[in-house]
Amino acid sequence: MGSLPMISITAALVFLSYFTATCFLLVVHCNATSSTSTYNSNSSSINSSSSPLPLPPPPLSGNTTTTVQHHHNWFGPKGSCLITVDASGCGDFLSVQAAVDSVPVNNREQVLIQINAGTYIEKVVVPVSKPFITFQGAGRDVTVIEWHDRAGDRGPDGQQLRTYNTASVTVFGRYFSARNISFKNTAPAPMPGMEGWQAAAFRISGDNAHFSGCGFYGAQDTLCDDAGRHYFKECYIEGSIDFIFGNGRSMYKDCELHSIATRFGSIAAQDRKSVDERTGFSFVGCRVTGSGPLYVGRAMGQYSRIVFAYTYFDDVVARGGWDDWDHTSNKNKTVFFGVYKCWGPGAEAVRGVSWARELDYDTAHPFLAKSFVNGRHWIPPSDA
Ligand SMILES: *[C@@H]1O[C@H](CO)[C@@H](O)[C@H](O)[C@H]1NC(C)=O
Ligand SMILES: *[C@@H]1O[C@H](CO)[C@@H](O)[C@H](O)[C@H]1NC(C)=O
Ligand SMILES: *[C@@H]1O[C@H](CO)[C@@H](O)[C@H](O)[C@H]1NC(C)=O
Ligand SMILES: *[C@@H]1O[C@H](CO)[C@@H](O)[C@H](O)[C@H]1NC(C)=O
Repeated sequence: MGSLPMISITAALVFLSYFTATCFLLVVHCNATSSTSTYNSNSSSINSSSSPLPLPPPPLSGNTTTTVQHHHNWFGPKGSCLITVDASGCGDFLSVQAAVDSVPVNNREQVLIQINAGTYIEKVVVPVSKPFITFQGAGRDVTVIEWHDRAGDRGPDGQQLRTYNTASVTVFGRYFSARNISFKNTAPAPMPGMEGWQAAAFRISGDNAHFSGCGFYGAQDTLCDDAGRHYFKECYIEGSIDFIFGNGRSMYKDCELHSIATRFGSIAAQDRKSVDERTGFSFVGCRVTGSGPLYVGRAMGQYSRIVFAYTYFDDVVARGGWDDWDHTSNKNKTVFFGVYKCWGPGAEAVRGVSWARELDYDTAHPFLAKSFVNGRHWIPPSDA
């Protein structure tokens, strides 16, 4: 990774301005060139702001009427706060997890965790008790959080981790966001057919999360889009097999989906399990690049929903384009796989099976705007 920037006067001013709001860390003066500079983890004032305030409502049901009602009595974060993480010791914390740990339980502030350029080799968890956290890197090429767990590896209890617990970064809290940062799982890519090599870079299990300018790097199962409503804008997502998977309700806008598959691969495996669930993945204005042959979607759940709209496909799409997962449970009769105004040399193959339909405008419409994830209520216009 590149060299670390000096902390400029401008940065210091931005830093200080955040502290006009109630905040729980002290400003540190630091000479960025000194690797021996200390960082202040004094958190004695943390509890002062953590009086029990009402949390935002629980995750919303699939009921639009209820959604609107919830937003009328939603309190939102109160005040804001900046924490810096710097691998060379020139911030409030050396590790991202230490910064997350410093946020009070039942946090009510908007917490911006600014992660300076560097590679942070650690496994990070944002617990459900810590909403309103943002990870802001210095650029997705220079700020990286990485770890290397695989599904077959043993956890502390001696049991195999399994795919969902391999993520280098896992977020359970609501109203999480990330900007200009990359997440990697650096475990080696499996050869086709190898068991236990699933290795996620990121798992998002919290509702109302948005990401912009982020990178997600792995091979099999890179991005676990597990649960809740999510919005990914201008992100780069790389992997080989099912490299976006889970049961989230998510929109991917203007993202690059890059395959590193060697013999065959697949982009999205969506796990909607019943007609009542409003989950699904919508890819709008994306670019599909890399190596193939590649299925664009797989029916992980019986009622899997995946739509590609206005998306460019390189000549990497496998014959048929889509996969029904197990060839036995008639998922080809229950899934919703759609294509709308896609283009590029691979686009024709995405229409390769009768059960992946070319949508008309009315059918495509619900998948094209951020209302698919109720984004108007929680995605700031600058990130939408
Ligand atoms: C921590 O901060 C408190 C309150 O600001 C201060 O009184 C105390 O001396 C600090 N302790 C250390 C070890 O810096
Ligand atoms: C903050 O609260 C935690 C538990 O809620 C407690 O263990 C800790 O001692 C408290 N710290 C201070 C500085 O009051
Ligand atoms: C949606 O909410 C409305 C009003 O609260 C309620 O009458 C209706 O039964 C709900 N529908 C579902 C499917 O939960
Ligand atoms: C649908 O899947 C079943 C097996 O689950 C298979 O027998 C059938 O041929 C498939 N139909 C189409 C149209 O692909």
